[in-house]
Amino acid sequence: MSIPPVPAVAIIVVAAGSGSRLGAGAPKAFVGIDERSVLRHALDGVFAAAPSAQVIVVAPAEREGDALTETLAASGPSRDLASVVVGGASRQESVAAGLRAVWPDVSVVLVHDAARALTPPDVFRRVLDALADGSAAVVPALPVVDTLKRVEGETAVAAVDRSELVAAQTPQGFPRVILDAAYAAADREFTDDAALVSDAGHPVTVVRGDARAFKITTPDDLERARALVAPVGQSRVALEQPHPLPRVGVGTDVHAFSAEGPLWLGGVEWPGEPGLSGHSDGDVVAHAIVDALLSAAGLGDIGAHFGTDRPEFAGAHADVFLAHTLGLVGEAGWRIGNVSVQFQSARPRFAARRGEAEAALSAALGGALVSVSATTTDGLGFAGRGEGVAAFAVALLVPA
Ligand code: CTP
Ligand code: MG
Repeated sequence: MSIPPVPAVAIIVVAAGSGSRLGAGAPKAFVGIDERSVLRHALDGVFAAAPSAQVIVVAPAEREGDALTETLAASGPSRDLASVVVGGASRQESVAAGLRAVWPDVSVVLVHDAARALTPPDVFRRVLDALADGSAAVVPALPVVDTLKRVEGETAVAAVDRSELVAAQTPQGFPRVILDAAYAAADREFTDDAALVSDAGHPVTVVRGDARAFKITTPDDLERARALVAPVGQSRVALEQPHPLPRVGVGTDVHAFSAEGPLWLGGVEWPGEPGLSGHSDGDVVAHAIVDALLSAAGLGDIGAHFGTDRPEFAGAHADVFLAHTLGLVGEAGWRIGNVSVQFQSARPRFAARRGEAEAALSAALGGALVSVSATTTDGLGFAGRGEGVAAFAVALLVPA
């Protein structure tokens, strides 16, 4: 039988607050985000990030049993590493209660707010990495994006230089001896653990935080958390509105050469070249672009929109396919950033007509940048044997 290694890291998850600003009628950690509570989500993140760390959950006295149930459910195979203690009247007292439960061999302690329930595991890793590099205190933080003002009453009296400011998050990490000593010496309340350790004279290292590590404080925050954990589809709008991200999609297509011409490829006609077989004109370049765009928009694939049950697309050329796709993508709230596509075939000789093809495809896509390249496969595969053509496309969409 192998004895598991003694943890060198402890993570204190403070969950003993009342959640007065949330006002949900229960201590905040026990409020549901979906079918899982704030605490359960926080613990899922903790165990995913550090499955071999000691985990100490600090709970309100009246919810100690519930906290244990949640902790055991989240811990899975790490259950022997997890425990629950009762917190105090302030966050600082709750952390102190957690610290008293840290096992002797632990050398590094992270303190994490249960209220930052959706903190991704990467943030824990960045904090642990900075500690491994010798930091005395580590805070994940994000740049401040709003313009800040100093106010007196209701009057803004001065601008504050936001480049000097960051918004601190958790988990905050410390060598255990430093945190223990700083807590033993603390004679007043600090806003967070890093402030307490800083007051004890230690430099604080800042690592990159994450927008998803926001603290659920108000009912609006809870709404945002709910939107983030909701299944795709339900959450799409809520996810994209606060932080719209571009989207990429990939598409490929293959068609065999057929005896009948003409060839249509890259939105242009190639007189004298053998054609490609297919329901439409077999233009693999256009079809790969369509799939990439639909994929980036989350709208399925070419078969769903241009299938053989749509006779109007039989024999259609790239301009029809692309214009229709542009419309679908636009209706879904996206515009095209750029499209890049490459086809594999020994023929036709493409270089001389690249500009013409790119212009035709771009025009069909409302003027979006389209880059087309061609390559041979050194005689290998169906493209090398001249049996057919393959194309691969990547598309970038940005919120409209
Ligand atoms: N916390 C704690 N013990 C306290 C107060 C706070 O363990 N006595 C924890 C909270 O559970 C939370 C974290 O510290 O995970 C951050 O605190 P905050 O967001 O202020 O939570 P609450 O104090 O519960 O909320 P409020 O201030 O709105 O009452
Ligand atoms: Mg509080």
